[in-house]
Amino acid sequence: MSDLELEGRRAHVTGAASGIGWAIAQRLAAGGARVAISDIDEAGAIARAAELGSGHLGVRANVRSMDEVTAALAATVDAFGGLDLLVNNAGIEIGVPVVETDEADFMRLMDINVTGVFRCTKAAAGALAEAAAAGSDAAIVNIASVAGVGGVPLLGAYCASKAAVIRFSEVCAIELREAGVRVNAVCPAFIDTPMVQRLAPAVAAMTGMEFGDVVAVKQGRYGTLEEVAEVVAFLGSSEAGWTTGSHYVLDGGLSGGLL
Ligand SMILES: NC(=O)c1ccc[n+]([C@@H]2O[C@H](COP(=O)([O-])OP(=O)(O)OC[C@H]3O[C@@H](n4cnc5c(N)ncnc54)[C@H](O)[C@@H]3O)[C@@H](O)[C@H]2O)c1
Repeated sequence: MSDLELEGRRAHVTGAASGIGWAIAQRLAAGGARVAISDIDEAGAIARAAELGSGHLGVRANVRSMDEVTAALAATVDAFGGLDLLVNNAGIEIGVPVVETDEADFMRLMDINVTGVFRCTKAAAGALAEAAAAGSDAAIVNIASVAGVGGVPLLGAYCASKAAVIRFSEVCAIELREAGVRVNAVCPAFIDTPMVQRLAPAVAAMTGMEFGDVVAVKQGRYGTLEEVAEVVAFLGSSEAGWTTGSHYVLDGGLSGGLL
């Protein structure tokens, strides 16, 4: 764990009751940040915040609801006296070929993975700009995926959504630059989380390989939760002060290789 300047930063992480979001929340809190954990799983969010100790917040927010997102971000600002960092992490997967994907499932995924990022960004932008005006290095980090950089069979909806998050992050970076809010995206390959455990059987069936072998061949090994959380913490800290509009690929070389 590096020595980033996170002390006293006021952060909100969506979908943080599980997996990558929870690892990000832990990393930020370990650096001295106050962290609001939101999730559609309200009990999980509250329990995780309690695990972090006092001074943190657990709150329900379904990123499909503008009202819930607005309320959760307002509760964060109330509890912490402002907001310096938003991490848009909540997301879902579908592991089904495109022509077999149900239209309603496709739209649901886009509503969570893309419109959810839009909703939270819109709800947080004012508070982040206020923090920036008061001297904070305000930032948004969006969890995209290497699946937004290149195509992955079975992940048509997911790839489309994560490519959209990368481009959306670039636009937000430009639009919010004058307000002093940085916006970057992070693009991990497979990390061993409940999401990937759900996808593994379909990927193994499609490739005819054990899922662990697919991971070993394509990306060397699983990335760890800590490796993702560290990059997010860096982008969310003042050490990344001139970094905006970028996307950071963490994939063990997967997207750079032809063989
Ligand atoms: N695991 C990977 O290999 C991997 C790789 C690249 C990107 N990602 C991205 O990282 C993020 C986290 O994924 P994960 O692997 O930790 O998944 P996960 O399924 O373990 O956790 C996702 C969390 O999001 C919450 N969530 C789901 N729908 C929600 C909604 N509508 N509103 C609020 N919260 C909701 C879930 O309750 C859960 O706590 C996602 O955006 C995912 O696309 C994951």
